[in-house]
Amino acid sequence: MNFDDKAQTWDADPIKQERARAVAAAMRQRIPLRHDWHALEYGCGTGLLSFALLSDFAQITLADNSTGMLAVLDQKIATAGASHLQSLALDLSTDALPAARYDLVYTLLTMHHVADIDRLLRAFHDLLQPGGWLAIADLDAEDGSFHGPGFIGHNGFDRPTLQNQLVAVGFDSIDFSTCYVMKKPSDQGMRDYPLFLAVATRS
Ligand SMILES: C[S@@+](CC[C@H](N)C(=O)[O-])C[C@H]1O[C@@H](n2cnc3c(N)ncnc32)[C@H](O)[C@@H]1O
Repeated sequence: MNFDDKAQTWDADPIKQERARAVAAAMRQRIPLRHDWHALEYGCGTGLLSFALLSDFAQITLADNSTGMLAVLDQKIATAGASHLQSLALDLSTDALPAARYDLVYTLLTMHHVADIDRLLRAFHDLLQPGGWLAIADLDAEDGSFHGPGFIGHNGFDRPTLQNQLVAVGFDSIDFSTCYVMKKPSDQGMRDYPLFLAVATRS
């Protein structure tokens, strides 16, 4: 899926804006966020989720592998004068880990585009300070109709399977909740696609 081409019009969709606000609200409910934290958003796109969390953290690094998304994001950061936000070109499927360590890593609807989930979860774990928090918001397991034919990513995630993968790489206190329900038209009318929020800690 080419996100460079989607970047310019990404923020024009009110559903994407609403979704990001809902995930931010769920994160505030489930995690004792602190204003002195340095957070990392992975797969930030144009930064909708981090802009919804703008006042929650001292510093936010926003990472993505799409140059188109990062260009739109850099423009938004400059326009907002949000000097505590920095963009980062990063693909954890291929790149070495950045040197920085974070208090919180969060990601919204990016993991289903990444082939090797175990490698990604290990990277999230290693990017966290001891005691740090992980928040993953993504699709619950679905039948492939969300993206339609030709999509080569994951058709959502089975919560118990993902929980086991999180335990295997060393996460604790894992908690799943439903944070948003996307609606899309189908042959049988409108169809619901729930998004889970998984939160966990690194001991
Ligand atoms: C569905 S979009 C979600 C964007 C944003 N989180 C939002 O909710 O508006 C998925 C994002 O993940 C990014 N992405 C996909 N694969 C990636 C990878 N391997 N490394 C970094 N970013 C990736 C895409 O460029 C895109 O910005």
